[in-house]
Amino acid sequence: MNLVLLGAPGAGKGTLAKRLMEMYSIPQISTGDILRAAVKEGTDIGKKAEEYMKRGDLVPDEVILGIMEERLQKKDCANGFILDGFPRTIPQAEALDKLLVRISKKLDMALNLEVPESVLIQRLAGRRTCSNPDCQAIFNVSFKPPKVEGKCDICGNPVVQRDDETEEAVKHRLKTYNEKTAPLIDYYSGKGLLKNPGATETEEIVVYLKKILK
Ligand code: AP5
Repeated sequence: MNLVLLGAPGAGKGTLAKRLMEMYSIPQISTGDILRAAVKEGTDIGKKAEEYMKRGDLVPDEVILGIMEERLQKKDCANGFILDGFPRTIPQAEALDKLLVRISKKLDMALNLEVPESVLIQRLAGRRTCSNPDCQAIFNVSFKPPKVEGKCDICGNPVVQRDDETEEAVKHRLKTYNEKTAPLIDYYSGKGLLKNPGATETEEIVVYLKKILK
């Protein structure tokens, strides 16, 4: 299954992707996670991306496309992939279409996670992420707190708040989403690939997916 997850910041893309990764044994490819790791390691890509990310702006398309071209050709994508946070703009979606033709793959579905803005803000304010780059489990102080405060349930490393989670950056990310990413809903609808689960809870979306994939 080759899947794109669409949805605003905080819609639950990362949480759902991790669940689907376990269920279908296919990788979650999160451009946000890849970029955050590059910033932490201080690579050239990380240096280019850091300021955009802190402001809540999109990183330039050419940086992202270079990352994805390499990532989608890795062996672990042979049986499918879950794209989380990519594509983010119409030019990225068009470039993805061309790349998939070149590497003889095709998308099966674009799953749109629709969550009211007030809930998005609440979720993002409470999100905590495991600081271990190999784990990156996602928690929420209100909805899914770690069993031991401040520590990841899975690997025991500290859970932290992301740099782009200031109120100002969150508002800017939502504005950027509405301007640049929301048009992808029509783009994939036009291709007959869009699915709307009509639910906001991760487990309800899992049930919906199981039903349509039968
Ligand atoms: P990225 O990391 O992709 O961030 P995002 O899209 O803004 O999405 P988030 O990770 O904030 O939210 P999510 O939908 O995954 O929600 P989550 O599951 O964590 O990108 C960060 C930055 O990188 C961008 O701003 C940009 O600068 C750059 N970038 C990345 N990709 C790019 C691209 N392609 N092009 C250009 N730039 C790019 O859930 C959120 C919270 O809600 C958690 O606390 C979770 O526990 C909770 N939660 C989740 N689901 C539920 C539920 N069902 N019920 C209750 N709580 C829930």
